[in-house]
Amino acid sequence: MNKFFLFLIIFLTGTALNAAVYKGQKTFVKSCVECHESGQSFIATKKIREWKKLMKNNGSELAAIHLKSEAATDSWSYFESKKFTKDAKHLGQFLEEYAKDSGNVPACN
Ligand code: HEC
Repeated sequence: MNKFFLFLIIFLTGTALNAAVYKGQKTFVKSCVECHESGQSFIATKKIREWKKLMKNNGSELAAIHLKSEAATDSWSYFESKKFTKDAKHLGQFLEEYAKDSGNVPACN
């Protein structure tokens, strides 16, 4: 019985985490790759710790970098939107999942 529950918990946690990472990937593809290289090459420029820092407080630091930059004008409406605040959590999980020191490589799709 106990073993069964342990298995169930591990299974459910893993599934929830994968779902979050998947959502984050969708956000990244939709909102970031128009300006940043897609996939590993860009995400792996930073370590888990660095992404964590950029994405804490609903990504406030990441938003600030873009809102300061004239070259990123096209992203302002997104970074100022409620949508970004909502996306930030999953996006952060995705970015950390494929950070330089994560040991993971995203699938090519
Ligand atoms: C409209 C274009 C645009 C979009 C969309 C955009 N960015 Fe950026 N991003 C930029 C520009 C331009 C800079 C450089 C800002 C500067 O340094 O002045 C930048 C800087 C960054 C940096 C800092 C780079 C570094 O080397 O530290 C990170 C991290 C980043 N963006 C991540 C993202 C993520 C994640 C998303 C999606 C949520 C995103 N960007 C969406 C244009 C964009």
